[in-house]
Formats: sequence, C-alpha cells, structure tokens
Amino acid sequence: FGYCSFLVEKDRKYVCDVLCNGLARLEYRGYDSAGIGVDGDTPTSPLILFKTVGKVATLRKDIEAATATPSPAQGDVQGDKIDMNKVFLSQTSMAHTRWATHGVPSNTNCHPHVSDTQTEFSLVHNGIITNYKELKLVLLKRGYTFHTDTDTEAVAVLCKYVWDSQPHKRLNFTELIKTVIKELEGSFAFVFKSTHFPDEIVAARRGSPLLIGVKTDRKLKVDFVDVELPTNEERVDGVDAAGLLAVPNSVADGHGAAGPKLRRSQSRAFLSEDGMPQPIEFFVASDASAVIEHTKRVLYLEDDDIAHIAEGELHIHRLRRDDTVSSVRAIEHLEIELAEIMKGQYDHFMQKEIYEQPESVVNTMRGRVNFDTRQVLLGGLKAYLPVIRRGRRLLFVACGTSYHSCIAVRGVFEELTDIPVAVELASDFLDRRTPVFRDDVAIFVSQSGETADTILAMRYCLERGALCLGVVNTVGSTLSRETHAGIHINAGPEIGVASTKAYTSQYVALVMMAVQLSDDSILKTARRQQIIDGLHDIPSQIRKVLAMDKALQEMAKTMLAKEKSLLIMGRGYQYATCLEGALKIKEVSYMHSEGILAGELKHGPLALIDEHLPVIFIMTRDSLYPKVQSALAQVTARKGRPIIICNEDDDTVSDAAKCIRVPQTVDCLQGLINVIPLQLLSYHLAVMNGVDVDFPRNLAKSVTTE
Ligand code: G6P
Repeated sequence: FGYCSFLVEKDRKYVCDVLCNGLARLEYRGYDSAGIGVDGDTPTSPLILFKTVGKVATLRKDIEAATATPSPAQGDVQGDKIDMNKVFLSQTSMAHTRWATHGVPSNTNCHPHVSDTQTEFSLVHNGIITNYKELKLVLLKRGYTFHTDTDTEAVAVLCKYVWDSQPHKRLNFTELIKTVIKELEGSFAFVFKSTHFPDEIVAARRGSPLLIGVKTDRKLKVDFVDVELPTNEERVDGVDAAGLLAVPNSVADGHGAAGPKLRRSQSRAFLSEDGMPQPIEFFVASDASAVIEHTKRVLYLEDDDIAHIAEGELHIHRLRRDDTVSSVRAIEHLEIELAEIMKGQYDHFMQKEIYEQPESVVNTMRGRVNFDTRQVLLGGLKAYLPVIRRGRRLLFVACGTSYHSCIAVRGVFEELTDIPVAVELASDFLDRRTPVFRDDVAIFVSQSGETADTILAMRYCLERGALCLGVVNTVGSTLSRETHAGIHINAGPEIGVASTKAYTSQYVALVMMAVQLSDDSILKTARRQQIIDGLHDIPSQIRKVLAMDKALQEMAKTMLAKEKSLLIMGRGYQYATCLEGALKIKEVSYMHSEGILAGELKHGPLALIDEHLPVIFIMTRDSLYPKVQSALAQVTARKGRPIIICNEDDDTVSDAAKCIRVPQTVDCLQGLINVIPLQLLSYHLAVMNGVDVDFPRNLAKSVTTE
C-alpha cells in the first residue's frame, strides 16, 4: 500500500491512520508481520519506520506508543517519542503486510526495506525476486551490506548502487527504477520512495497485482493515461562486466543530451479542467479493497508498467515496447461498496461469507437465468459459444477451492456438452508442460484472479493458441483482463482466507455455462429445464441448511472437536464436496482431514477405519446412492463412526444424533447444499480450537507467488 497526497496543509490526513487502515483491508492476503515507512523531519531526511511481527492491530498500537501529540506550548518532541506533527507532514509513504517467502517473520525481515541507514531508497514488495542471490553477490563484492534474509532488500540496495554509479546523478526516479527492474527476475509489485526524490513515488508490477486509486473533488480533465513508451536509445543498455547495471552509458558519463530522450506523457491527466494543479491523493494498492474507503476511481497497472507520481500528476511508462498491450490505462469505477468488505454483525468474515450464500448465489444468477422461459444467458460468453462447442476439449485449470468447483461440475459438462473434459491443478499442469492445442478451450477458475500458478497456466495456454476463458470473482484482476472472455461470478468481495461463497458461486456459474452451451441441443432440453428449476430453489435450500447452525455447532463440539483426524467420503457429484469439506476443515481448524472417493474405499482407506476415526458420509440421493450405502455398511461393519449427510426424508438412516439432514435438489446441484454443513462444521471447529478463523496460520488469501 502506498499513499501520495498533494493537499493543502489544512486538509492533510494523519498519514499513519491512512496507512494502517489500508493495511488492515489487505491483511487477509498475508499477515505474519506489518510495517510502514513515513517521511522523517523533512522529506529528504531518513524514513521513519515502524515494524511489528503480527497483525496490523499490533502495529497500530506500537505506532501509538511511539508517537505523541506535542502540546502547543512545547511544540516538539516529548521524551524519546516521535513528534506526530512530523509524521503528519509525511505525505508520501508506504506500508506492507507480509507473508514470508524468504526469511522468517521478524522485525528485520518485515517491509519496508531500505538501501542503507540513511534510507536513500526504500520499498515494499509483493512477489519473489528469483535472482536475488546473484544480485546480492555482485553487490556484496562492491562493498554493499545486507541486514535481512529477504529477496526484497537486494532490490533496495540495487537502487542505491545504480544511483551511486552515475557520478552526475542525472537519472530521474523513473529512469533509475527502470534500470533496476531490468535486472530483476521473478514476480513483483513494488512501491518505491527515495530521499533523493522527495514527494515522489514510483510503483511497478510484473506478475503481482497493483492498482492506483485517484481521489480528487474536482473533475478530472481526462480519465485515462497514455502510456509513455521507451525510446530506442533507452532500450540500449550499458551492461557492466558483472551483467549488472543497465545505466545507459550516455547518462552514466554525464552527457545527458545524447542520452535517453523520454517522451513526455501526452496527457497531463490530473490537471483540473481549468488547467490548474488540483488537490489530489493517490493510493497504490495490491487490491481494490484498500482504496475503496477513499475513492472508487482506480487505474489497474499492467505487467511492466512503471507508474510515477509527482507534483500531483501520474505518469505511466512501459519498460519495453509490446504491441500486444494497449498504450492507454483507463480510470475505472469500482462497483464494490465499503459495507461489503466489513464484518457487520458477524464475528468473522468466514462466518459472514457462509451466511451470505443465499444472496451471493442469487447475484451470480442475476440477469442471467430466466426462470420463466428456463433459459440461461451469460453475456460474456455469447460471442464465443460456437467456438467453445467446436472445441476438442474443455480444460479446467485452477488451484485450491476453485479447483474443487471444477471437479464439482465436470460431470454436468460431460453430460450436457458431450465434449471431453479435463480438470487440472494449475501447478501440476505447468509442471507437466501439458500438451495444449489451438482448438482446446481452457477455462481458468479463480476467486482472486491473481493466483500465480493459474495466471501462468493461462499464459501458457494463450501462447499455444487455445481459447482462454476466465471464471473470476474479482473484476479487473489479471485473469479477467488477460483471458479472451469469461464470467464474473459476482459473489462480492471474499475476505476470509478459507473460500466459501466463492465456491458456491463458481459452482453455479459453471453449471450455468454448461447449460448455456447445451441450449442448441433439443435432446437435452428436459435436463436443462430440470437444472434451471433446481437453481431457482437453491437460495432457499441453502437458507434451510444455515438454520441448522446451532445443531451443527453442537455436533462439532460433542463429536469432532477433540479428534485428530476426520475422513469425508462420497462419490460421483459428491466427490468434490468431500475434497472441499476436507480442505475447509484442515485450513481453518488444523485438524487433519481427507476427502475420499467412496469407490476407492477398498483400495486403502478402509485400513484406517476403527472405532475412533470419525467419517462423514455424503449420502444424499442420486444414482450412486446404493453404492454409498454399501460403503457405509462396510465402515459400520468395521466399527467405524459415521456421521451421515442425507436428505431430509431418508428413513433408512435412523440415528438422528449422527445425521445431518439436508433438502434434496437435482443431483448435479446437490453439492451446493451439501457443502454448507461442512463449511459450518469447519468454522465451529476453528472457533473451538481457538484458531484465528480469518487468518489461519501460514495461509494467504491470494497466492501471488509460484
Ligand atoms: C489460496 C486460498 C484458497 C483458494 C486458492 C485459490 O490457497 O487460501 O482459499 O482457494 O488460493 O485461489 P483463487 O483466488 O485462484 O481462487
């Protein structure tokens, strides 16, 4: 998160609050440590850093403890505390919550990272710099020192090296950062600050999301920014012996006139209509939720964009010429509301999101399903329907819960489209360098639209000419921008790390897609109509299951809370429910849990069964019901301890204490209902085990590194 304001002094905000509030909204993405960097006495004096291991709330307290409001009489520092007025003056600042990839969570490894004690260059970073060891070695050889275990510090020190290496200090901030970035491998979203360039910020991305919120009361003259492309000269790098330092020679030796000629941005986007500079604030963030309380106008950066904010203006440069990327960045209007990212009456986001499902699935269907004519129309796919239908294969690629939603709908796609379906975990798909063909239809499913493996898999398929579709919750995310077409699932922002409402909305969106794809088949009309009628009742049926929450809480307490392990068994459409239920339980309660295909019971899992191990059976009615019944019989015969999810009127199951009765729907939709009790059980187990439900250890909401 970065903040850069150009406000008259009386309108300025207490910058630590702006930073901590921004961080708190991003905390769900990583939360092992948090830090901010604000200007010192003057923008050219060293940065003041506050860093804390743990949550943003702790950071906030630490800042409060370290700062003091001076009384008007004293007007200066109280004891050894930092004068808040100095911090207040800082209008160019940065903040970060960390999810450790290199180096343990500690104050030292926490961002912002700095180049040296004078903090000549400072930055916050998402992503991984894969060549940081090589960079570090070269810089160490040149006498630079390092104090952290992070990859990020190498970038800060590299900035200083590039600066030190040009005797006449002619590079401007953007040129310097361009030079640095050309040396980096891996993925990143950065915010840079420098005491050499007070009141300026440079932000850049490659592979990790980054956007800029723009807030001003006046009307913007234009709502787009023309991207400034590098000139030919600038792309000729002067590489030194170590392969490091791409400072153009002409600049390094001080002959600026012969050096790179930067074209001024064509638009001065942030002048007011009368051409005068205006009060304006810029918020740089990896996620729109951090800027929504300030502004709804955002501009999404593309890979290799470098944004420079100075003197109330934003200029965007590109690292390299790339004709496939547009040279215009438009300011978009965010649709989300602040209330949607607040917890409201609920104790946790996960709980709130479980309870939102009757509405979120309606939002997924809104304007797309006509329950009277029994038709589905997904506008985003319409133009591509003939191509999809001609496809040789439907290739679903995703990670985590999103992968489970693909497994959940595999059967209905096979049945309705008669096209072979493959479902792939993005990482494994990439590891295998899976063959992909021009007539493949690749469908990437992701809540965030920013999961690194899924994005890489998408680019892999794009390169091979496949039609790439995105099924995404986050509007404006990388996946939604880079795919040919797709569906926004419209579940609303999901904050809880364990995905709940995104799963059911992905599931519904994909079922709608299968239905729409088959609407050229008269043979399938009856089945389509049955599914659409089923979809109509899903929200009220989910509500019915939510009403069982108290009983489920009791079941979690009496039958599961003390267990070490739990199996969830089912088959057919319910295999996905087993996998997803088990993932929920292990993610938030830390209890070991495994989803097992009942058809595989005899091939190994049966050996685990004894009188101690609880097994949840998903035994709702469908064509495989008798087979699940026989798996249940085998488990009970071995003194197993089943808990059964069955339909309301199933009288073959007698022990009420051990069963969870849910409404019945169409077979291919039943997973939408059956997953709800498992979400609730996992939530209660987490609370009972004292887990910080929305922030389970070691996990992040959006995994933007491979
Ligand atoms: C992380 C999250 C999971 C999520 C997975 C895929 O592991 O903790 O909840 O299912 O990423 O994320 P995506 O945003 O691509 O759906």
